[in-house]
Amino acid sequence: MLRNQASVEEFELLASGVTPGFAAAPYQFTHGKGARLFDADNNDYIDFCAGTFTNSIGHAHPIAVKFMQERIAELWNIHDYSTPLRIKLLRLLNEMTPEHIDTFQFYTGGSETIEAGLRALHSYLPPERAKIVSFAGAYHGKTLGSRQLFGWQFPGESDCDITRLPFPDKFGLPAEQKNAYEQHCLELIESYFANDLHIGAVIYEPVLGAGGNLNASPLFWKQFNQLCKQFGVLQFVDEICVGFGRLGHDFSFQQYDIEPDLVAFAKGIGGGFPTMCIGGRKEIINAKPFGEKGGASTTFGGNPLSLAAMYITIQIYQQEQLAANAKDLETQLKDHVEKLASAFPDIFDFRVTGLMATLNLKHGTEEETKRFALTLHRHCLAQGVKVMTFDHLFRIAPPLNISTTDLDEGLNRMFAAFELTTQQGAVRTDSENLCPSV
Ligand SMILES: Cc1ncc(COP(=O)(O)O)c(C=O)c1O
Repeated sequence: MLRNQASVEEFELLASGVTPGFAAAPYQFTHGKGARLFDADNNDYIDFCAGTFTNSIGHAHPIAVKFMQERIAELWNIHDYSTPLRIKLLRLLNEMTPEHIDTFQFYTGGSETIEAGLRALHSYLPPERAKIVSFAGAYHGKTLGSRQLFGWQFPGESDCDITRLPFPDKFGLPAEQKNAYEQHCLELIESYFANDLHIGAVIYEPVLGAGGNLNASPLFWKQFNQLCKQFGVLQFVDEICVGFGRLGHDFSFQQYDIEPDLVAFAKGIGGGFPTMCIGGRKEIINAKPFGEKGGASTTFGGNPLSLAAMYITIQIYQQEQLAANAKDLETQLKDHVEKLASAFPDIFDFRVTGLMATLNLKHGTEEETKRFALTLHRHCLAQGVKVMTFDHLFRIAPPLNISTTDLDEGLNRMFAAFELTTQQGAVRTDSENLCPSV
């Protein structure tokens, strides 16, 4: 399908730094239903990225639509004042999380939520323990503080000197060496903690989402927890990408028996609405200056519509047992991905965790691989499946309530897209942004 005039104009007017998905799509989506999106000609596309890990209950869930239509007629924003729904939502969050996670505040973006957590930690930690470290390969957002956590520095910014702990990415290692490698990483982490007593907290995703769906064993996390306790290092868990049912538990830290002191909840918990929150130990969240009046608030954080979206998403998620559904679908997803990987050598490696898969592509040089991934992305859209690609990574994360039929259908469409890309080769484009049809 060729770009129409409006789409070309849109490209002229929009910042070029949008995601490669948009660059690949000469389509305009007009509406969605369940796991499917539709364009103006009523062609359907199975949404294999659930927005961007956000639309956990699919598109236009009838219960959510009705609930939100009623709320939109009531109240949009009143800042931090009380509403009947806020207490209900706080109770729900308190019930879902471990007992010591007992204080919450709401935000509208993931990076903003991470920044709020950093402000809370810096309010609580004594100055001599104020150093916060992260893991290599992690992603925590694009604002200054969240970006510095993984060393993404823009020109003109001051140096960010952040310690990044080794994440035990065991790809390519023979099975018998995997445990030893995890132990090696733990020893390195122990030496970081022992040699730098300024380290007061660590932020991490239990599964590195944007980093390529990397995970460590439950034993690794158990020992990591012990190390944190031994050295008095607080744990700030970033659930933004991999949390809320996707791995088969409400939150990914529960999957690994991690005991976080602070948690950032976002993306899927809002069902696609910009609504996120931080939860933590009261003494951390209420430490001053974060705990001073106004220290934790934002203009839109916790506005009634956002709270309503989070509330109804959690209700539907619980009633429809979507964490269990995600876990049940893991095998189906894995079987398909294994078939794909054995049919197409350009899939260099893959990982499936719960209802989330990442395929690692390799097609010649780095540049050639990027082009191949973009072409594959376009073929997927042309076949009617919306996926996510970033450089060499090809990611799948459908809504948690996708049916087995839609999952199969989407994966079959993906298979056809792989076949076409392999047969036809990567498309040449004059501009990476304004791409022709495939
Ligand atoms: C793990 C993680 N943390 C933080 C963020 C930042 O969220 P946002 O894009 O809403 O600022 C993301 C976004 O993808 C994420 O995956």
